[in-house]
Amino acid sequence: MPDTPQRTSATPRRVWGMFDRIAHRYDMLNHVLSFRRDIAWRKRTASHLADAPDQVVLDLATGTADLLIALHETGRVKQGVGMDMSSNMLLHGERKIEALGMTGALALREGDATEIPEPAAVYDAVSIAFGIRNVGKTEEALREMLRVLKPGGRALILEFSIPSNPIVRFGYLVYLRHLLPRVGGLISGDSEAYRYLNRTIELFPHGDAFLSLMRRAGFDNPIADPVTFGVASIYRGEKPR
Ligand SMILES: C[S@@+](CC[C@H](N)C(=O)[O-])C[C@H]1O[C@@H](n2cnc3c(N)ncnc32)[C@H](O)[C@@H]1O
Repeated sequence: MPDTPQRTSATPRRVWGMFDRIAHRYDMLNHVLSFRRDIAWRKRTASHLADAPDQVVLDLATGTADLLIALHETGRVKQGVGMDMSSNMLLHGERKIEALGMTGALALREGDATEIPEPAAVYDAVSIAFGIRNVGKTEEALREMLRVLKPGGRALILEFSIPSNPIVRFGYLVYLRHLLPRVGGLISGDSEAYRYLNRTIELFPHGDAFLSLMRRAGFDNPIADPVTFGVASIYRGEKPR
């Protein structure tokens, strides 16, 4: 059997520092380690936007801005802001946005997902991909997402989860605990970052447990949309009108 994960003692500052160090290889590693599924997962997350034009959206823990770009590519977003605490990740995101000619519509800036530097009720949608697990204070981040959403606005959360099928789960845990830290460490040159990844994925609430957190934070109609056998899940909830 795969061995059990250890609890991680990473502080928020250590987490941002870790992303600062691996920023130059982050996109490539994401695609390699997920067998390019991450691209489809972000696209599907974006498809959970409301079917309305000219939306104003906020992507938290935006990193190199891939989800923000996917949201814009739906054609339903007029203006988008991406926030992160790692300046190196944002730098790579800015280059990408510029290369795609999206600078008029998308802007990146530093900002903490657990203390969003924005007034209440200004966004049609607030998203976070592979970030809610990293912010340290999950419930604060959910409450902050709710605060900055307009009434009826949507929160879209993409996060790793654990497959429920026992055979798939066994194979996935072997990959997560033994292969991923080695390959990730080798390519990024930072094995600590990829040991952190596998520990946090296993310890983080998923499925019904995460939906309960959303309900407790005040979201209406929370749903889970598991993708690729439940290796990741998209969670969606609405701010009460
Ligand atoms: C795994 S990356 C995800 C990046 C991107 N959303 C994606 O889909 O690839 C996690 C990001 O969360 C950021 N982060 C961690 N804690 C944060 C916080 N409290 N506020 C904002 N960003 C944070 C990290 O700097 C990092 O860029």
